[in-house]
Amino acid sequence: MPNFTTATDLLDRLKWRYATKKFDPDRKIPDADWQALASSLVLTPSSLGLQPWKFFIVESAELRAQLPEHSFGQTQVIDASHLVVFAIKTEVDSAYVDAYLNRMAEVRNTDRASLEPFEKMVRGFLSGKSQDELQSWAKLQAYIALGQFMGSAAHLGIDTCPMEGFVPAEYDRILSLTEKGYTAVVLCPAGYRDPSDRYASLPKVRFSNDEMLEIL
Ligand SMILES: Cc1cc2nc3c(=O)[nH]c(=O)nc-3n(C[C@H](O)[C@H](O)[C@H](O)COP(=O)(O)O)c2cc1C
Repeated sequence: MPNFTTATDLLDRLKWRYATKKFDPDRKIPDADWQALASSLVLTPSSLGLQPWKFFIVESAELRAQLPEHSFGQTQVIDASHLVVFAIKTEVDSAYVDAYLNRMAEVRNTDRASLEPFEKMVRGFLSGKSQDELQSWAKLQAYIALGQFMGSAAHLGIDTCPMEGFVPAEYDRILSLTEKGYTAVVLCPAGYRDPSDRYASLPKVRFSNDEMLEIL
């Protein structure tokens, strides 16, 4: 069993997190912390375990310089230490399902044939959905990864900003996602808050627990 955090520590970290508007461009996430954060993306759970996504880490300064223009001028995409583009597969096809089941057989050291009932369920689930429904479903999965990434970062004292304020088609073009079979759905720069970011000290605006939680 890992060492778990305390309730107080958990709340302290979640209250410390805020959507960072201004990152310190000079502070970089140490490699060990980044490797853990990258793994938090890959460890994200998904419906049927299908992982219909890929996480693009934009390191190239040249590519990043092109992004604010397609992000409503938001500079977090260039200033943050790391920039994650959460993208979903444009097609979850039969070959992908095969790859997933082969991987499952390998990792769990089981006979591929024993996975047939599960395979039937997966294929039935996917074939019962239109292309639009599949894309909406895949987007929901990507947002689970976003939540896991932000929460994990907060535990490490790393700032993030979830971002929907960008033009996915332009990101797909600039980062060559379309030709790779992906489309961008949400972004998350990660790094360290700039001391001048006044948003860090603004009180959180949330409805009360009484309004948002209901015991039935
Ligand atoms: C999916 C999503 C998209 C968001 N897009 C942006 C964005 O493009 N730019 C931005 O500055 N903040 C963005 N935000 C941040 C929210 O405005 C912020 O999380 C919310 O006001 C609550 O504040 P807090 O995160 O500081 O507690 C986004 C948040 C979420 C969850």
